[in-house]
This record gives sequence, structure tokens and C-alpha cells, in this order.
Amino acid sequence: MRTIAVINQKGGVGKTTTTVNLAAALALAGKRVCVIDMDPQAHASTHLGAEPDGTLPSLYDVLVSNKPLAAVRRMVGDNLSLIPSDINLAAAEVELAGIVGREVILREALAADERPGSSAPFDYVLMDCGPSLGVLTLNALAAADEVFIPLQPHFLALHGLSKLLETTALVARRINPKLTVTGVVVCLYDAATKLAQEVVTDLTAFLAQSRGASVPWANAKVFGTKIRRNIKLAECPSFGKSVFGYAPKSSGAADYAALANEVLGVSAPVVVGPLKISVPVEVPPAVDVPPVIEAPVVELPARQTTVEVEPAVA
Ligand SMILES: Nc1ncnc2c1ncn2[C@@H]1O[C@H](COP(=O)(O)OP(=O)(O)O)[C@@H](O)[C@H]1O
Ligand SMILES: [Mg+2]
Repeated sequence: MRTIAVINQKGGVGKTTTTVNLAAALALAGKRVCVIDMDPQAHASTHLGAEPDGTLPSLYDVLVSNKPLAAVRRMVGDNLSLIPSDINLAAAEVELAGIVGREVILREALAADERPGSSAPFDYVLMDCGPSLGVLTLNALAAADEVFIPLQPHFLALHGLSKLLETTALVARRINPKLTVTGVVVCLYDAATKLAQEVVTDLTAFLAQSRGASVPWANAKVFGTKIRRNIKLAECPSFGKSVFGYAPKSSGAADYAALANEVLGVSAPVVVGPLKISVPVEVPPAVDVPPVIEAPVVELPARQTTVEVEPAVA
């Protein structure tokens, strides 16, 4: 079982988009995947079609009331399950304040989830963290073996990365010696801009400085697959679907399929990989129905889209 925390203390960099669509791609590839929504805003839950209404059990019940994960988990697709979040989770920070060992509650719940003698219940656990380094993100880092850092390539992209990496070092030293930073996923990528390429070059050089050092990011890489800016990725959350369910032929689906292949170790890293994961496409019956005319996919230039991305905080 690979347990991956998807973190970046900045909002709007592609954490939720990456968690959900990478999870969906891995599930389509036949892996058993569980998404844990660690963010009180519950964007990953909504994205996976589990709109939180405050009445169903959530991660809050696991962290605060010691409910087992199995009592909270629900299936949201073939091979894909979800530990949902809801707004109650925002109170967990305060409610857990006086609890000894509050950072390792999720790790213990995951360990209890594995029945002794039988194989792990999942091949991949992906934890979508909120934009802070509080007790929820610490629970993810304590439970994870790996860290993936989504990052948007703008001129402040490296700002804050050192703080994030220092946090992983602290967690590795104090509570989780296994923790490793696997890599950075470049999201919202505009291949045409010089800035995006410069940021990737700087990032690669920055990570290369730490090769051989005894830090969790000593072997971290920039994933070869870059997630291009694609309007379908911004649209699909409101339909409660992954990009594979919403727009399987989009560049967003191709990019997350390529990233999944890279994560699976199937293909060599490429910017836009071949779509190796077969995505189910509905084939309309040949007769008795009016032909469906598919609108051509128009990739709008970034400045014309209505994608709202939180501005970077200087
Ligand atoms: N590659 C992309 N192309 C277009 N829009 C994207 C892309 N990645 C993310 N978005 C959009 O950008 C916004 C922020 O992404 P999100 O994954 O929610 O970031 P985070 O979880 O880090 O806050 C969302 O509206 C999302 O739909
Ligand atoms: Mg998010």
C-alpha cells in the first residue's frame, strides 16, 4: 500500500484536482484506491460526488470520536472509495488541542483498518490536505509514506516550498521517519510561457542541491508529466465527477492518465504521455437515434478562461 499526502500550504495550486483525478486514473488502471479528504472545505468530497450535508459520518468522527475508518468510508466509483470531510472538521483543530498524540490518530486508524494476516485493503491511499500546516495536515504527514507537492508555476512558486519541506523534515524527525517527498507535480502549466519553463528549471536545480543529504526530499523529482491548464478540469468538480467521467478525451484526462502511469512506474516521464489507461467511452447505438454531434474541443488561451485561481500570497 502506498500512502500519499498531497500537500501545499498555498491554496489554488491543484491539490484537490490532482488528488481526485490521479485517484480516479489509478482506479481506472485497476488499483484499489481510497481518497481521504483532510480539508474542512470538503472540495475532494464534492468533486467525487459526495456532497457533504453535515449528517453523514466523516473524517471528523474518526479523528474526534474514534470511529473506525470502515464506518465512515463509502464507495464513489469502481475501485474508488472516499473518507469524506465536512465543515465539522474545522473544529477538530480546537477539539484535539489537549489530546496527547493528536497527530497520529489517522495513522492509528489506518493501521487498525488492516486486518492482521490479510493484505492491505488498498493499493493507494491519497490524502487531500487543506491549505495550512495544522493538525489535520500533520495527521496526513504522520500517516503517509510519501508526499506529493502540487505547484503552480508562477514567479512565487518556490516561495514557501522551503517551509513546506522543513515541515516534512520535522515530521520525519519526530513522528514519521519513513516520510519521503516523492516529487512535485506542476499543475496549471502553460507550456507556451517562458516563465513556466523557468520555474521548472529552477525547481529541478533546487531539488538537485539536496541529493545525498539526509532529508526527506533527497530523492524528490519534478514529475515529467506536467498538468496543462484545461477548462474541463475546472468544470468537472461541479458535476461531482472526475475528469475521466466528465471529459475523457480532454487534455486534462490525458495528463492525469500520464501522471498515473508515471506514478505506477509504467512509462517514462513525458510532458504529454500516451493515454495508456483505457477510459470507458459510451458508444451510442448505431440506429434509431439522431446522431450526436460532438462540439469540437476548444482550448481557450489562459487569459480567456473563467478559471478562478486564488492569487498567490506574497
Ligand atoms: N490544470 C488545470 N486547469 C484548469 N483549472 C485547474 C487546473 N487545476 C486546477 N484547476 C482549478 O483551479 C482551482 C484550484 O485548484 P484546486 O485543485 O482546488 O487547488 P487546491 O486544492 O490546491 O486549493 C480550481 O477551481 C480547479 O478547478
Ligand atoms: Mg483543495
